[in-house]
Parts: sequence; C-alpha cells; structure tokens
Amino acid sequence: MTITATRTWADLCAHRQKTENIHLRELFASDPQRTERLSLTFDDILFDFSKQRVTPETLALLVKLAEEAFLPEWIGRMFAGDHINVTEDRAVLHVALRRSAAPFPDTQCDVMPEVQRTRQRMGEFAEALRSGKCVGHQGMAIHDVVNIGIGGSDLGPKMVNQALRSISHPALGVHYVSNLDGAQLAPLLQTLDPRTTLFIVVSKTFTTQETMLNAETARNWLKANLGDDVDLANHFAAVSSRPERAVQFGVSGERVFPIWDWVGGRYSLWSAVGLALMISIGPHAFDELLRGAERMDEHFRSAPLAENLPVIMALIGIWNTNFLGATSNAVLPYNESLKYFPSFLQQLEMESNGKSVSISGDAVDCATSPIVWGELGNNGQHAFFQLLHQGGRLVPCDFIASVRSDYPLPGHQEALLSNCFAQSAALAFGKTESEVRESLAKESLTPEQMVDLLPHRVFAGNQPSSTLLLKNLSPAALGSLVALYEHKVFVQGAIWGINSFDQWGVELGKAMASRILPAFADPSLATGFDASTRGLLAYCRR
Ligand code: F6P
Repeated sequence: MTITATRTWADLCAHRQKTENIHLRELFASDPQRTERLSLTFDDILFDFSKQRVTPETLALLVKLAEEAFLPEWIGRMFAGDHINVTEDRAVLHVALRRSAAPFPDTQCDVMPEVQRTRQRMGEFAEALRSGKCVGHQGMAIHDVVNIGIGGSDLGPKMVNQALRSISHPALGVHYVSNLDGAQLAPLLQTLDPRTTLFIVVSKTFTTQETMLNAETARNWLKANLGDDVDLANHFAAVSSRPERAVQFGVSGERVFPIWDWVGGRYSLWSAVGLALMISIGPHAFDELLRGAERMDEHFRSAPLAENLPVIMALIGIWNTNFLGATSNAVLPYNESLKYFPSFLQQLEMESNGKSVSISGDAVDCATSPIVWGELGNNGQHAFFQLLHQGGRLVPCDFIASVRSDYPLPGHQEALLSNCFAQSAALAFGKTESEVRESLAKESLTPEQMVDLLPHRVFAGNQPSSTLLLKNLSPAALGSLVALYEHKVFVQGAIWGINSFDQWGVELGKAMASRILPAFADPSLATGFDASTRGLLAYCRR
C-alpha cells in the first residue's frame, strides 16, 4: 500500500482542511506554552519548530504516519546493514564511519576493522603534513593541499572546512577544486608553488569527467614546472573505491585511501573523502566531528519517534510539502562559516529524494523532495527576503545560527542574532492592517496617502520556519547538525517509499556530454543531435 492510501494520510488531509485557516498568530496566542511544547534539544542544539504551522495534534498524526510507513523497521534495516539501496544492491552504512565501537553492523559482517585502519592511516598522513614531515620536490615541506573532487567528493569536506576555518592549520593552505571551468583551477595554480603542493584526487568511481580532467591538468602542471621526471608520488594522494585506477593514474599505492560501495558520495565526508578536511583541522577535531555525528546516530536509532529530532524535522517537512503544498525549502544560516551549508544540503536532499519512482518501481503519487535553496540569512535579507515576506508563496525556512561566534567583534553577534530572530518572527506573525494603520498614523500622511500605502505595508505572515540554534559551531555540534539532516532525508525517503541512495537521474546528461565533446574538434560528428545542440555547437565554432 502506498503511503497516500493509508488511513493516516486521509486523516492528515482532513486535519489540514480543519486547520488551514488558523494563523500562526492565533496558534501562539492560544497556547502560552507553545514554544516549550514545540521545541527539542539535543546536546548543544536547540530545535525550535514552534513557528511551523503545526499543532500537537498535527505532530501526533505525523508520527502515526511514520509508523504506518514502518519507519522504525527502516531505521533498523539501515543500521543492520541490509541492502536498502536496492537499485544498486548495496548496504547504506555511512553511520559506520563515525562509530567508535566495533563490531558493526554485526560480527559476521564487521566493517569496523577496515574503517578504523583507514582512519588511522588518514591520521598519520594528516599529522605528517601538518608537522611539515611530508615533503614534495627536493625535500621541501608541503604547504598547499588541493582537493580535486566534485559533488559528494567536494561539497561535504569543503563545507565543514569552511565552517571550522577558525581551527584550521595556520600555515597549510587547503583548497577545493571541483569545476571543469578552468576559471577555478587556473587562477589557483598561479598562486601555488608546484614544489610544495599536494593534490588529493577524490573520486569514488575515479571516472568522473570533471575530477579526472582537473587531475590531469594538475599532473601536467607539475610536469611542466618540475620536469617530466618529477616524482608524482610526492605530489598526489587519492581517495577511491577503485584504488587500482588511482594507482594507474600515478598515485603511489601507499597514498590511496579506500572508500566502500556502502558509502554514498553525498554521505561520505566522514570517510577518507574528508582527508583534506582532516589535514586542515587535525585528526583530533575530525574525531570530535565524528563523535558529534555518532551521538546523533544513537539518538536517531533509539529515541521515541515523537522526541526524535531528525524524525520530527522530517515530518514537518512532509507536512509542509505534502499537505500545505510547499515546493521549496530555504536554508538560511546566520553564520558566515556555514556559507556552503545550503549547497551541501542541496545535494544531500535533492540528489537523495528528488525522485518520482518508488522502491518497487511504481510512480510515486505525492510530491517528494522540495527544491532546497538558500544563502547566508543576513545577506539574503537584503536580496530575496522581500519575496519571502510579501511574495505570496509558501516557503518554509530553516534558520540556523550559533549563540557564540568564532570571530567575536564587539556588538556583531547580538546584532546578527537580533536579525535572525526578527526575520523568523516577522515571517511568522507579519503585520496586520490595523497595525499598519497605527504606524502610518504616526507618519503625518494625508488620508489619501494612507489608503494608497496601506496594502503595500501589510505583511501576511504565517510563513513557517524552524530555528536551529547551536551553542557554538564546534566540530561536535557540526557533526550532529549534518547527521541530523542526513537522517531527516532518510526518514522522508522512507515515508515517500523511495530509494534515497541511488542517483540515476544524473546519468543521462553525463552520457550526452561525452557524445557532444568530440563534435567540438570534428564537426562531422555533430549529427544525431537535436537542432538546438547543433546550433549551439555551430555558434561556438563560428
Ligand atoms: O554525478 C553525481 C555523482 O555521482 C554524485 O553522486 C557524486 O557525489 C559525484 O558524482 C562524484 O562522484 P565520484 O566521487 O565518483 O567522482
């Protein structure tokens, strides 16, 4: 039975009809305990979802929906190492990457010895680089590390690296290159000394076009600057589930770090994919990041559904998407260090749950992943918040902030947080006609001007949001935050009945690009393409 055919789905539809005209203003006015009732804490994270358009009854129904979708069983299956990624016949065990205890998932199939061995090797390599013992050309210490990867082999480590830059190694430059566009790699190479640069080629498959081309360009750059006989082994490391391909490329076997087919790319920052990150922040901080995620894993696995942070967050998303009709979700960090968090979440959520075919191969008959987008909240206020306030669209928002700043400047943090709290309150409560009338009355306007201005100054409000407030952006808190979103995605996928761990939708464009590429050099190959593609190619040639 599909989830939309369940009794609870019907009950939720009826509940929406009953409650759809209740404004957040009324929900707050009618329950002075609302914020206490509708927030959860986990370690140093407060999750306040009282500004979502839900009541305790909504939540009770949503929890029932999760039970009808067999969510506890799905959680159990993931942690047991079942092959829940059915289209690729793979287990989904990224949680193993942050575990401190062995064996896991069980004694028969224990992945932990390999995980721990790799963590140990990563730690040794990272320490060697951080202490200057790892040398490049002519014995000179490595000063710059360039992570070459894309998607999950880039976004997660880069996002965390940026988030924790206050504790990154002061003398080691760690850079991330993902884009095929030479405008990313070329200017970076101009700033680097080939003698003291190490490239880490990160690709689970070791076939991804962007990564392979950037890696080849890096190799050519080393040869062009240091001679054809340069010892590439000193300047390359790699992370891949196909180590033989990395060795064939020219990476020394000792510097190839494994990942496994049970780690999805977008869930891989905890693995050797996070090597550049570990080099930057150090093995100890990396371990704290893992511990924070592990604590969230344990919470997710053991807390009752109604008190379970990822579950509640996911269910609120289901409510907004499937019952209130929201099509997007804005992620608004009020913390400069989290500037890459929205793009990290875009891959995590949209590549996982942007699907319309169920696990059993049938069409899904409800909406799945919303369009995730976002930007640093304070900057967004002066750009697109206008639409959130008065554009008339339903756009649920995640406000994310930390109480303490890693870069305290007098007066800044309080001002930043005031804006964060003000925006979510303004979105929720708006400004009524009578409130606008009252403020216009103080502006010495003519009665005509008052009438003209009134509709422009009204804010409908009722825009739902959650606020995630961290005490500070420590590695552990960040680990918990990322794991929170990972599990949220898992819960939503389980309820929608889709496989959150494959990504067939990215294949078509990749295959077409490889057919188009030769046509740049040989126009006779530009046949069989659609008229638009032919026209674009012809324009480039001209
Ligand atoms: O094209 C999408 C994708 O497969 C992502 O899922 C993945 O994170 C990214 O490409 C990079 O893949 P790889 O690590 O194999 O280079």
